[in-house]
Amino acid sequence: MTASLYKHKILILDFGSQYTQLIARRIREAHVYCEIHPYNMSLDDMEAFLPKGIVLSGGPLSIYDKDAPLSDPRILQLSIPVLGICYGMQYMTHVLGGVVGQAREREYGHAIIEILDDQGLFHGLGQEDGEVVWMSHGDRIEKMPPGFSVLARSKNSPVAAMADRKKRLYGVQFHPEVAHTPNGAKILSNFLFEICGCEPSWTMASFVRRTIRNLREEIGNERVICGISGGVDSSVTAVLLHKAVDKQLSCIFVDNGLLRRGETKEVMELFGKRYGIDLHLVDASEHFLDQLKGVTDPEKKRKIIGREFIRVFEKKAKELGKVTYLAQGTLYPDVIESVSFKGPSATIKSHHNVGGLPSVMKLKLVEPLRELFKDEVRQVGRELGLPNELVMRQPFPGPGLAVRILGEVTRDRLEVLRAADVIVVDEIRGAGLYEKVWQAFAVLLPVKTVGVMGDERTYENVIAVRIVDSLDAMTADWTKVPYDVLARISNRIINSVKGVNRVVYDISSKPPSTIEWE
Ligand code: XMP
Repeated sequence: MTASLYKHKILILDFGSQYTQLIARRIREAHVYCEIHPYNMSLDDMEAFLPKGIVLSGGPLSIYDKDAPLSDPRILQLSIPVLGICYGMQYMTHVLGGVVGQAREREYGHAIIEILDDQGLFHGLGQEDGEVVWMSHGDRIEKMPPGFSVLARSKNSPVAAMADRKKRLYGVQFHPEVAHTPNGAKILSNFLFEICGCEPSWTMASFVRRTIRNLREEIGNERVICGISGGVDSSVTAVLLHKAVDKQLSCIFVDNGLLRRGETKEVMELFGKRYGIDLHLVDASEHFLDQLKGVTDPEKKRKIIGREFIRVFEKKAKELGKVTYLAQGTLYPDVIESVSFKGPSATIKSHHNVGGLPSVMKLKLVEPLRELFKDEVRQVGRELGLPNELVMRQPFPGPGLAVRILGEVTRDRLEVLRAADVIVVDEIRGAGLYEKVWQAFAVLLPVKTVGVMGDERTYENVIAVRIVDSLDAMTADWTKVPYDVLARISNRIINSVKGVNRVVYDISSKPPSTIEWE
């Protein structure tokens, strides 16, 4: 595990809170490496991880629930600093001989805490009118375990924060990791630097240096292939590998005929010409469109595209001769074995990724981005000199425009959608919104409506415009785009895209809708 390379690291034990990933984000933003592991990680594994500190996350259950998650209590005797957050604090209290009281109702939202001890965890805080924090808890601490003292209190929580300074055990009832706790980052930094003695050594520049060195060692003289999709993750993966093993890397870009306008050319120019990567374009567009002929069911479309992608990729890879490794742009959120992040969305649509490739092709995997969150990948991209438009590119689904054309995917309908898509993106960029929203795109609907153009009656297609705000695609809300921007999008599409006489704006949030229409 590469983690052992980072000397100053924090272990986060996940008790199922929706905020666990945020704890990791905040710690990494303070330039300290951390990993999330399930609450039931074995004591041996915890010790082997060599953490400078441990954070116990919150969780949805009460310590008194039948299935309450319990870690090995010996973690509190390892002489490693521990910070328990919400449920983590209650767990600590429970196993160390304190009393957790069952609340009649949850305390949820903003609260003011009064800081009683502004050393250590709350160093630099402690305004006279109190600190604003975000609470989300049912149970609370009624009696602290022996050896603990109160660090802060609020109206509803007589023990809003506590510590056994000697043993370096800390607990907070509120959530320092969320943005609603304005000084939360400072509190976490105090834990990292003052209490755990971490050094802020996790930077993307050091990540790049280390990763290139490791990749060289791991790959030796073998050959690697990497699929490029035009998205950030595969691009960064390819460039890292190129820097590490240069000519031993071959990249494959499959044009499945479902890409946006100009995409193939852009990818070939950037990676082939500018970076000089050995890049192989497979133009399989005819093949994919043939396979999709007459298919209208969304899941069938996805399955066909996934299956054909693997076939095409495998065939090309074979032509390239003996290859040992397959590089993939897997990110940290996909590998966290956590209680809380495998949300329901994974099973709602069969997401097409290259996940099936390694087992089919019997290749060894290299996943240089396995430790990174998306915004860290973007920073790595910048570090590697990738253009900003690529680094900040919005997500684009694997099955491409096929899931944005409701009904049958045909060449003509693809052209209509491409033309509308260019306008949506262009106007959103022009309004300075491209990097602010999660995604902005057009969808071609399988209905025709009546319109009038000049003196003529028209009977043409409808384009739906979908623009959403989101943090992680698990939930999303439609963006309140200014009316004049929507008006320009609509006018330009209706005036210039042949075959469209109506534009509608999608005002559904996720859940209950999803971001894509299929
Ligand atoms: P939904 O539509 O499920 O989409 O709300 C969530 C996010 O995932 C993207 N998406 C996909 N990405 N393969 C992908 O690689 C897919 O099959 C796929 N389907 C949806 C979508 O664009 C959004 O960002």
